[in-house]
Amino acid sequence: MSEGHPAAGQGEWRRTPPPLLRPGVVHVWRIRIDGVATAADWAVLSPEEDGRARRFFAERHQRRYVVAHANLRRILSAYAGMAPNELAFRTGQYGKPELVGAPSATLVEFNLSHSGDLALVAVARDRPVGVDVERWNDRVEHIELATRFFSPVERDALQRLAPSHADVVEGFFSAWSRKEAYLKASGHGIARGLDHFDVSLTPGQPARILRDHLDDGAPSRWTMTALAAREGYSAALVAAKPVDEILLFDAT
Ligand SMILES: CC(C)(COP(=O)(O)OP(=O)(O)OC[C@H]1O[C@@H](n2cnc3c(N)ncnc32)[C@H](O)[C@@H]1OP(=O)(O)O)[C@@H](O)C(=O)NCCC(=O)NCCS
Repeated sequence: MSEGHPAAGQGEWRRTPPPLLRPGVVHVWRIRIDGVATAADWAVLSPEEDGRARRFFAERHQRRYVVAHANLRRILSAYAGMAPNELAFRTGQYGKPELVGAPSATLVEFNLSHSGDLALVAVARDRPVGVDVERWNDRVEHIELATRFFSPVERDALQRLAPSHADVVEGFFSAWSRKEAYLKASGHGIARGLDHFDVSLTPGQPARILRDHLDDGAPSRWTMTALAAREGYSAALVAAKPVDEILLFDAT
């Protein structure tokens, strides 16, 4: 797949069961997290997840967390060949959750993101993946936030969209989701800051890692793809190359 172009297979979100996850293929699952958290959802959580869920102050945030993590377990259980409540996770070197304990032939790499009423889970068998979804917020100071957090190249690109507020909102959340997905793929999170690399953000242009000032080879090792998660949301997937195909599935 060439940089910046949608991988083969990306398009509609399907409700059909996924085919076998082959090397070079990434499955992305979309989960609606605006519904109620059922007893069955609570039942598959680990004691740690249950405890974390109970510490949420807002019922809405608790519900979204429980539905997202219960569905994450159900999704991964099908790949790992284990019951959802038997899956075990550990935190990687930089805080990225990883699946452990499954037979090596069924181990998968994954990443979770949630925003508003949606969660996304990316799954690959043989390569690190990072996914991020961001619900658009019209009321934040987009240019000001970009000045604080984005790279100079990204700030300039966003400034050029200023004549259209709609373009600024879309450009800002495209950049945000692409930056987060990249940081989440490597697992580094925001520990190394957000302004040492440039991503594309202009509406209508392909998602790309333009340059990483701390890692010259990054654009040739990682592929970045924008995902059409839902109207009013930006989402991006980053995976180690080569990625031949990205398949999209609805979990709920
Ligand atoms: C935690 C972080 C990895 C992502 O946070 P986020 O975008 O707020 O949240 P998301 O929903 O996309 O991702 C959270 C999930 O990522 C996973 N995650 C946590 N740490 C991770 C890491 N270091 N690497 C990859 N994935 C990670 C977890 O599964 C987590 O789910 P949980 O909190 O329900 O257990 C990190 O990048 C962060 O704190 N970002 C701050 C947000 C920010 O300032 N963004 C500015 C962008 S311009």
